[in-house]
Amino acid sequence: MQLLKNSKELADVCRGWHADGQDIALTPTMGCYHAGHEDLMHYGRMLAKRLVVSLFVNPAQFGPGEDLQAYPRNAERDAAIAKKCGADILFMPEATDMYMPDYATWVDVPELSAALCGQSRPTHFRGVCTVVLKLFLLTMADVAVFGAKDWQQQTIIRRMVRDLGMPTRIEARPTVREADGLALSSRNVYMTADERAQAPEIYQALRYAGDMVAGGESSATLLRKAVLRRWAERLPLGRLDYLAVVHPDTLSPLDSVDGPAIMACAVRMGKARLIDNILLRGE
Ligand code: PAF
Repeated sequence: MQLLKNSKELADVCRGWHADGQDIALTPTMGCYHAGHEDLMHYGRMLAKRLVVSLFVNPAQFGPGEDLQAYPRNAERDAAIAKKCGADILFMPEATDMYMPDYATWVDVPELSAALCGQSRPTHFRGVCTVVLKLFLLTMADVAVFGAKDWQQQTIIRRMVRDLGMPTRIEARPTVREADGLALSSRNVYMTADERAQAPEIYQALRYAGDMVAGGESSATLLRKAVLRRWAERLPLGRLDYLAVVHPDTLSPLDSVDGPAIMACAVRMGKARLIDNILLRGE
């Protein structure tokens, strides 16, 4: 595995691979790897001849007062994991390489970015889209792998790629969970033992809503109420950011689950802001 820090070097190696007829999979990450990241890397490894993993805690996607400084970092351990997962390149740029002091170009998908997480993180997805597009341009990846836990992120990236006519195919992998249902997240380490003990209820309540839909309930209002009632009893340490029933592609709020629908949420558990979602109904 080559460890690259310079974006020009990354572009040169990837151009060489393409010239040689080798296709490239990209797994963009912010590091502090857990089994969810390993799954994204293993999947990327299977999809193409070459696997590029990027590890960059992207300052542009953190708002004022968010956890950019505190975000867990462990480059040495991450490099060993990326190597074990079969990465050909681990790209770990400095922020000054990705964003020059007079950096001025942003990519935004405002309609989709304002929904859900965008309500409390208004500049987050602009930062995500910008860095992801830069990584796509540097690698000219044939395929890129994202986690379905960040449902809104992968939906926005799909739209960006479609709108800009980019050739990169987007693949999403199912959320990897602890045995008790808690979605794996680098931010889980922020929780106290008491918060961690309650956190599985986030997904358990989403599953409860899923079961209600399977049992014939379709009212988004009633589904939300049922989840909020459960959380009031079983998740007292949680502070709700949002809980919404939306269309999986447009992210528009739905009144009724009579077609494709997800339930998505963000809940603050102390210092950790945790997101999760469940597909209530597919196509
Ligand atoms: O999902 C993440 O870890 C980040 O948002 C991403 C896609 C690596 C962009 O910084």
